[in-house]
Amino acid sequence: MEKVECERLNDQGQGIGYINNKIIFVPELLPGDKALVQITKEKKNFMEGKIIEYLSLSKDRVKPICPYLNCGCALKSLNYQKQIEYKENKVKNILKKFSGLENVVIDIITSKKTNYYRNKITLKVKDKVGYFKNKTNDFLAIEGCALADTRINEIIKVLNTLDLNNTKEITIKAFDDVMIIIDGVLDISALKEYVSSIYMNDKLVYGNKYITTTINNLTFQISKDSFFQVNTSMIETLYNEAIKLVTNKGKALDLFCGTGTISLILSKHFKKVIGVEINKEAVECALENKKLNNINNVEFICGDANEVCKDLTADVVFVDPPRAGLSKEGIQNILKVNPEKIVYISCDPVTLARDLNVLKEKYIVEKVIPVDLFPNTYHVESVSLLIHR
Ligand SMILES: C[S@@+](CC[C@H](N)C(=O)[O-])C[C@H]1O[C@@H](n2cnc3c(N)ncnc32)[C@H](O)[C@@H]1O
Repeated sequence: MEKVECERLNDQGQGIGYINNKIIFVPELLPGDKALVQITKEKKNFMEGKIIEYLSLSKDRVKPICPYLNCGCALKSLNYQKQIEYKENKVKNILKKFSGLENVVIDIITSKKTNYYRNKITLKVKDKVGYFKNKTNDFLAIEGCALADTRINEIIKVLNTLDLNNTKEITIKAFDDVMIIIDGVLDISALKEYVSSIYMNDKLVYGNKYITTTINNLTFQISKDSFFQVNTSMIETLYNEAIKLVTNKGKALDLFCGTGTISLILSKHFKKVIGVEINKEAVECALENKKLNNINNVEFICGDANEVCKDLTADVVFVDPPRAGLSKEGIQNILKVNPEKIVYISCDPVTLARDLNVLKEKYIVEKVIPVDLFPNTYHVESVSLLIHR
């Protein structure tokens, strides 16, 4: 066992310390903490370790609501001010390292809620419900999750009283109403009073096909498998930050459009909007959402946004890809569209930096706004504005 003092956090929120000048990464170790650490992995250039005993604690620590260790919320014991400083610096450092961009990151936008903000969680099952511990297959049974909406927490308590032997995984989504999606078989009678929709093995077994939510006075239907932003308290803020970056009233493309949220909000600012999304179910929702809100100037295309965009024209392109970012062809195709402005919404600063490094040849990266959609975790969203050179 070795004594380790934490100097800073790495990009996954693990503490960084040194043993005989060799770097060691330790989960749950915060800057200023000192601990006795057991080395769990040793490679040529780095080590990994786990805490055996804290020797002294950082002054930046707080007592988290969540009692579990290694559940995935790497920053939950760090005070919120320090969390957001960490995230803002993380975006700055990654952009500098992978795209050479400096002085583009502006002040981070903080989250309205820092606990109970998630509208969706997926639970593993082993007698009780739980998560896999961070980056492992070790099961952690839970009685609640301090990130999840309080209605999800009520349902977790009920689930833990049921016979879960034939259930593999359970996803719960809580918007205006609540949906449970069960992989496996489960007696659902005790769950009905808490939800408006239950799916079992992909079949609707109770209630409504969709659940709904309202954003910027527009109604959105959300289906079982379609994506939706997870921090309910920040969805409007995120979209409004993105939309206020553009003033052009012509034609907009919304690539990776999900259930059509950005497209439909954009509809009142642009003459024409085209949304592109690969998930058929999400496109069906988007078409339904267009009808629900009586919007006529938006079209949706089901397909690979990286490909489809090459045949489209636009004054402004919004992109909101998954963590993997844009494909190489996707970037080239967006460059062919040649819009005046690109607004890039990203949930991974590393793939954002990689993509900006190519886009910056034709576009000035005017600003990058980090937005904290994921308090208590090391994740950070950002909205970037690119202007044609
Ligand atoms: C981060 S989500 C953004 C969704 C939407 N903009 C929103 O805010 O709700 C990324 C979306 O991209 C979709 N997607 C993933 N790969 C895609 C591709 N190659 N082409 C089009 N859509 C894709 C996913 O299904 C998901 O809906």
